[in-house]
Amino acid sequence: MIDIHCHILPGVDDGSADMKESLNMARKAVEAGITHLFATPHHLNEKYVNVKRDIIDRAVRLNDSLQQNNIPLIIHLGQEVRIHRDIFTSLEKEEILTLDDNGKYLLLELPSGKVPTYTKEVIYELLLKGITPIIVHPERNKELIENHKLLFELVQEGALTQLTSGSINGNFGKKIQSFSKKIIEHNLSHFIATDAHNIISRGFSLQHAYEIITKAYGIERTFYFKENAEQLIKKQSPFIEKPVPFKKKIFGIF
Ligand SMILES: [Fe+2]
Repeated sequence: MIDIHCHILPGVDDGSADMKESLNMARKAVEAGITHLFATPHHLNEKYVNVKRDIIDRAVRLNDSLQQNNIPLIIHLGQEVRIHRDIFTSLEKEEILTLDDNGKYLLLELPSGKVPTYTKEVIYELLLKGITPIIVHPERNKELIENHKLLFELVQEGALTQLTSGSINGNFGKKIQSFSKKIIEHNLSHFIATDAHNIISRGFSLQHAYEIITKAYGIERTFYFKENAEQLIKKQSPFIEKPVPFKKKIFGIF
């Protein structure tokens, strides 16, 4: 499996504290069936600043350590960028790191309590530059939980989204789990990822989430999410299903 969102780089944010912990996380990821993992440290989230060149240096070092320790996991480049008005200044300064540095897909984080008024503008401007933002864990955003239609509008505009496996598994409570299901049912998510921060409280629960999705929606839906992550590794475009507006009634499932 491929995990597109994870805080495994040592000593850069609230994820792994040091190389020893990163290697332990890597061993757990491999045990969980993960072969490729995008290391995506926080950037500009009011606490952490991790610019592109630093992430690349650390990812190279981690890949070297994985090889030396015979851990069969490949680290890919990434960054979890908090939305901010100056994102384009950061882009110009080459501080922003797209997934695999391909200039095409960027993990974009909203503040947990709200959706800033300039969000649609930022999405639009990124798309104009050929960068598709992947909004991480929309199911945990307070404003989106209250206003599902706004998420539909962001996806309709061209943003992709990534649900966190722990949300589907119920680790963040019933409300977030229920919203995660609605997001899947309305074709408003394109990736599932762990957003792992450690091996205890926020680990690599990807397989369990896929099992829940398979049980509720069939194996094709799980393949859809898995294949989209593979598309990123292959430097190809993910598959995008037509988003369903919330006014339509969805029958059955979950
Ligand atoms: Fe994250």
